[in-house]
Amino acid sequence: MRLVLVGPPGAGKGTQAQFISSHLSIPKISTGDIFRSNVSTGTELGQQAQAYMERGDLVPDEVTIAMVEARLADDDAQSGFLLDGFPRNVPQAETLRKLLADWDTKLDVVLELVVEDDEVVRRLSGRRTCRVCGRIWHVLFEPPARPGRCDDCGGELFQRDDDREATIRHRLDVYAQQTQPLIAFYADDGILLGIDATGPVEEVTARAMAALRRFMT
Ligand code: AP5
Repeated sequence: MRLVLVGPPGAGKGTQAQFISSHLSIPKISTGDIFRSNVSTGTELGQQAQAYMERGDLVPDEVTIAMVEARLADDDAQSGFLLDGFPRNVPQAETLRKLLADWDTKLDVVLELVVEDDEVVRRLSGRRTCRVCGRIWHVLFEPPARPGRCDDCGGELFQRDDDREATIRHRLDVYAQQTQPLIAFYADDGILLGIDATGPVEEVTARAMAALRRFMT
């Protein structure tokens, strides 16, 4: 399956991506994770992306698209993938459509996670991420057994720099202006599915898997 997850910051894309990609045995490709890993290792790509990410702005399309194109060409993405955080504006979506058409394929489905802004702020202000395996936690809604440590691998948990309230509000504005138009774009293509992304994580996963069932071969 070739699947895109779309939704505002904090909708739970990364959380659901880890479970859905594992259920479907397809690689999870998160542009935010790839950028963060490059920032932390100080690569040229990381240096290009860092200032935009700290402000909560989108990294320029030419940088992002080149990175995604290279990742989608990898062997493990040839029979399916889950994209988390890409595309994020209409030019990125048009480029992805053309790229896949050049490879004689196309997206099967775009899954929209629907959540209100106030819930997003609650979720992001308590988010913690494992420095070692990338697993996402929340201090109240999905707490690890030992505060500050990942249950899965024991790694240290950290708070993202862009999870300060002012930056969260700016990211929500960027989402409304630049990413929200993708909802109509993919609805016109007939491949948009929306689910309520509130409630416990496992319930959202169950809703997502039920919605995706008809696309499984
Ligand atoms: P990115 O990392 O993609 O950030 P985002 O889209 O803002 O999304 P988040 O990762 O903040 O939220 P999420 O929806 O994944 O929520 P999560 O599962 O963590 O991008 C970061 C930056 O990189 C961008 O600002 C931009 O600069 C750059 N970038 C990335 N892609 C780009 C692109 N295509 N073009 C240009 N620039 C790009 O959940 C959040 C919290 O809620 C967690 O603590 C979780 O435990 C909790 N939670 C999840 N589900 C539930 C639930 N059901 N109930 C209660 N709590 C829950």
